[in-house]
Amino acid sequence: MPSSSPSPALLMPQVLLEATLQRGADAEPLQRQLHRRLQEAILAGRLAPGSRLPGSRALAEGLGVSRNTVIAAYEQLSAEGYLRPDRQGTRVAALARPAAATARARTGDEEALSPGQPALAQGLAQRLAQIQPTGAGTRFGLPLRPGVPALSHFPLAAWRRALDRAITEAGPGALAYGEPLGEPALRAAVARHLSVARGVRCSPEQVVITEGAQEALSLCARLLSNPGDRAWVENPGYRGAKAALRAADLTLHPLPVDREGLCATAQDWALHPPRLVYVTPSHQYPTGAVLSASRRLQLMEDARRHGCWLIEDDYDSEFRHTGESIGAMQGLLPQAPVLYVGTFSKTLFPSLRLGFLVLPEALLPRLQGPLGELLRGGQRHSQLALAQFMENGEFARHLGRMRRLYRSRQSALRQALQQHLAVPHQIEGGQCGLHLCVRFGSAWPDQALAEQAHRHGMAPSALSGFALPPGPADNGLVLGYGNTPSELFAPLVQRLSGLMQAL
Ligand SMILES: Cc1ncc(COP(=O)(O)O)c(C=O)c1O
Repeated sequence: MPSSSPSPALLMPQVLLEATLQRGADAEPLQRQLHRRLQEAILAGRLAPGSRLPGSRALAEGLGVSRNTVIAAYEQLSAEGYLRPDRQGTRVAALARPAAATARARTGDEEALSPGQPALAQGLAQRLAQIQPTGAGTRFGLPLRPGVPALSHFPLAAWRRALDRAITEAGPGALAYGEPLGEPALRAAVARHLSVARGVRCSPEQVVITEGAQEALSLCARLLSNPGDRAWVENPGYRGAKAALRAADLTLHPLPVDREGLCATAQDWALHPPRLVYVTPSHQYPTGAVLSASRRLQLMEDARRHGCWLIEDDYDSEFRHTGESIGAMQGLLPQAPVLYVGTFSKTLFPSLRLGFLVLPEALLPRLQGPLGELLRGGQRHSQLALAQFMENGEFARHLGRMRRLYRSRQSALRQALQQHLAVPHQIEGGQCGLHLCVRFGSAWPDQALAEQAHRHGMAPSALSGFALPPGPADNGLVLGYGNTPSELFAPLVQRLSGLMQAL
């Protein structure tokens, strides 16, 4: 027990926890149990926002666990935004909880389900519910939506010809399962494209065709880590990566991003060494920062020293608009400790659901077998059509056309922001890709603005939805220009500006 007489706010977690931590060979690790108990108590409102938790030593003594167990649970909850360390200790943070999470927390998981429904997998739904909303909704065709390419400019006729040819040539044989790691012709075409366009060092054997970048990220998380391991993520950062890492039961450790990209200090490596690091070096999502060469080299050296793997997500760098083309981090060094992830969602179209993962050569002997067990080799006609599309030059021609289109759309969006956004703001990013990041003061709360915008037929994303947890500087909008015609930017930005003034 703590030596001084604790206030009721300090006593509560002990009362709450004492009876429920389970021990024994079959029990979950104590740190995970403690983390979950505290998280449940906060979500359910049993630990009120602002209330102070006991010091790690006192709680450790009270529970009969090691102090490191308590520190690790506090650290994880702080990183996830549930706790807020301050000068006097650790307090419960004020959470902006989505309505569904609030209802579930109030009634308890089981009660929130209708009778007869099976219980949700304990933890997974809860872990994914912790990812902030962006207010952009799921209407992917709306203007200003980030990440959507110019759908009406896709060469559907050429794609249909490639599909027809693939179906004719491969016939019903390709209706069976394919090679688990992907069609050999596509793996070869991807390896060639990556080495020419991105400087990636790889052979076709290292390429795994996946269901978009999302499956590649999930595979990295599941194949290269154990539940409870720590993964570093960029803050603000890509929500899909956080979902994949969280679903694999990894503890997320957010690191800040500045103009040179991810900032990882020697202290971070010493105090919170990761198993995996997720990074978007060519075009940080969503700020658009480019990871500097010195940070890339340092990151790879540190990763090697600590025996961890870097996951490089190179999701939109085929569309470079300014400056020198920057090659992939993976290609900077031979035998780089990098798993390289890419996607056809931006270069072609998102519903194609094709992407790729380039495995480090050193991992091939260990991963080919498990991947063969996990994957089934589907979408074979699409894979074959795509291989042909890449080999006959259609893909490169499409990229060239789209690069020009996105460049002019970005410049129209910048002009519209300059002329019509009537609040002080700062534009970031834009060296490549399909979106710009615009920051402004917290007098215009971005979540409310994104929701209003959605009601008015636009789908920008709230920047705070990418942060973990959001700070005052993470207020702004991520504006997609890929699927929005240039002539719409002026009226759309005028509408946004009007909404901001009305907030
Ligand atoms: C950072 C980042 N990575 C990857 C993707 C693409 O994911 P997928 O290939 O699963 O569609 C996106 C799409 O928006 C993204 O923003």
